Amino acid sequence: MNLEERIAAVEARIKEATATTTEALEAFRVEMLGRNGKVTGLLDELKQVPVEEKRVWGQRLNQLKTAAKQRLDELQDGMAKSSTGPQETGDATRPSLTEASGSLHPISIIRQRIVDVFARIGYTVSQGPEVEDDHHNFGALNFPPDHPARDMQDTFFVEGDAQRNGSGDLALRTHTSSVQVRVMEGGQPPIRTISPGRVYRNEAISARAHCMFHQVEGLYVDKGVSFAELKGTLDHFAKSMFGTDVKIRLRPSYFPFTEPSAEVDMSCTICAGKGCAVCKHSGWVEIMGCGMVDPAVLTNCGIDPGTYSGFAFGMGVERIAQLIYRVPDLRLYWENDVRFLDQFADGAFRG
Ligand code: PHE
Repeated sequence: MNLEERIAAVEARIKEATATTTEALEAFRVEMLGRNGKVTGLLDELKQVPVEEKRVWGQRLNQLKTAAKQRLDELQDGMAKSSTGPQETGDATRPSLTEASGSLHPISIIRQRIVDVFARIGYTVSQGPEVEDDHHNFGALNFPPDHPARDMQDTFFVEGDAQRNGSGDLALRTHTSSVQVRVMEGGQPPIRTISPGRVYRNEAISARAHCMFHQVEGLYVDKGVSFAELKGTLDHFAKSMFGTDVKIRLRPSYFPFTEPSAEVDMSCTICAGKGCAVCKHSGWVEIMGCGMVDPAVLTNCGIDPGTYSGFAFGMGVERIAQLIYRVPDLRLYWENDVRFLDQFADGAFRG
């Protein structure tokens, strides 16, 4: 028999091989691939083949070796499938492996809770662009052209696109009051809306500050809206969010777009007003800014201040979350470490 005939014979033997026991399988392996095996023997013969034929026979013999190995694998698989025994079938009563599912981000959970409080008393939700022009972020809101809040310290300016934007004076919005300008420009009162969203300020990132954070700002404009209604609304918010025991107080403050303006403090939920590190031993924590919409702002947005008045307020979602979750470092929110994020799944976190 020449080499090809002998290869073909071994090939045929490989194809018809069977094995139902481990011993038979091992015998087949030795017969083909063992030290004195048929395939091993043929591969040895390659040495005697003339140089110019070595490549062709080398390939042919390698195929044979692969075929033998494949057959060995097939026989092994077949044995595993056909054998029945308690080890192979597994324990059908074991609980199945559960797929890990994602969960809402803690900031999303708190933002949604804030939105829900206002949605229940008739506020709509409005949204606007994060890259904003000077008019909506500052101008219409009564910021004088040289107001320090427009300064490079606070605002991320964006390379202007004069063709698309006219003036090319773009920036990342520093508050969502810009959305309220858009709502007022878009329609007449009554307006009752909140604007949740991301805002950006040029701050050094630390445990207490970040260059990106979230706000929920609110606006109510109608005939005869009063400061008393503002206070009542915010009291309702604080009690809905933190429990009926909390109190709020308003301190005079300044914003270019509201007059009068106030900062809102809430009795510290952590020490119940007794004094602790979070409230710096004052018993009060600041939770937002607010005020009556400046008549000049109404005029800028096409609303007649002779007929209408309104109030506005704005809070940081991270600040509210801090009072509920007491996360010691703001940066944890944005590291996307599942060990941190998992704690808030299904409202499981207990602050
Ligand atoms: N826009 C203010 C800020 O970003 C918050 C605010 C909103 C204050 C509405 C008063 C009225 O800080």
